[in-house]
Amino acid sequence: ASTAATSVSITGDISSQLHGGYSHPLARAWQAERQLTKSMLIYPLFISDNPDDETIIPSLPGQKRWGLNKLVSLLTPLVAKGLRSVILFGVPTAPNAKDALGTAADDPKGPVTLAIRLLRKRFPSLYIVADVCLCEYTSHGHCGILRDDGSLNNALSVERISDVAIAYAEAGAHCVAPSDMNDGRIRAIKLKLIESGIAHQVLLMSYSAKFSGCLYGPFRDAAGSSPSFGDRRCYQLPPGGRGLARRAIVRDIKEGADVIMVKPASQFLDIISDAKELGKDMPVAAYQVSGEYAMIHAAANAGVFDLKTMAFEATEGILRAGATIVVSYFTPQFLDWLSS
Ligand code: PBG
Ligand code: ZN
Repeated sequence: ASTAATSVSITGDISSQLHGGYSHPLARAWQAERQLTKSMLIYPLFISDNPDDETIIPSLPGQKRWGLNKLVSLLTPLVAKGLRSVILFGVPTAPNAKDALGTAADDPKGPVTLAIRLLRKRFPSLYIVADVCLCEYTSHGHCGILRDDGSLNNALSVERISDVAIAYAEAGAHCVAPSDMNDGRIRAIKLKLIESGIAHQVLLMSYSAKFSGCLYGPFRDAAGSSPSFGDRRCYQLPPGGRGLARRAIVRDIKEGADVIMVKPASQFLDIISDAKELGKDMPVAAYQVSGEYAMIHAAANAGVFDLKTMAFEATEGILRAGATIVVSYFTPQFLDWLSS
């Protein structure tokens, strides 16, 4: 008998033999702790105050600012393909729409309030998340109310932001998601939800670990929310601040958050994994932000890689780190890709 066919000795090391475990596509799928599904995805939508708006955003490929009159035709095919959730951002475009207090944020006739009511009525199975912040509505573009020296007045900001959250919840949002980063806003919103008698039917998703940096540029183009002076480094977290992020996550869990979010996603996978460890009994969301999405598009256009392949690799990395909810501009494409 030939000895070549039995060159692996039965007394040798057999733990080195891994290929058999992933030689088949199904066996490869089994290697993942969790597979991307449509119900994990939340699609960000920019809703403008011009009802017929349908404006291309050059820095955010394929995304537009939508007027209220365009929403039903935009979402009907997506819901038919399995879209489960959207997150809404308001974009006031009218002259004089902005002021120092962000008064337009909870205008009952404002784009977010009207969109919540419309979508609840027209798409009963769609889960509506309302981003809560003031930067789209303030004349200075910061995420709160300012003191004379230009720094955030935390107490006034929390008071105002929690009122805005309640307005969106009362309009019918299933979930309110404050992205402002003022200290203590989760507790303030939770208390007002309880006082208003709606705490039992509104989910509070905290952008707990939201880092400052250069990846929000296309979003700010879309929402018109760049600060008119300074930057957000004194309220969004410093990119190196892993310990600070852990403290913010622990704090927000104690203050009553139902879901913890980490943002950006791919540059902060360690923080996603920290969030999963610290909040082991709660869902963790990750926001693959505008700059991450635009970078993938730019590289795919430059021939670096295939867009779909990279969209999956990036998103699967986010799931592997511990997220089970992903806010993604790729959502419409994933609805197609996950069907085929
Ligand atoms: C508003 C807000 C921002 C994002 C979500 N909510 C922008 C910012 O903080 O400047 C960023 C999302 C993205 O870049 O896709 N506070
Ligand atoms: Zn903001």
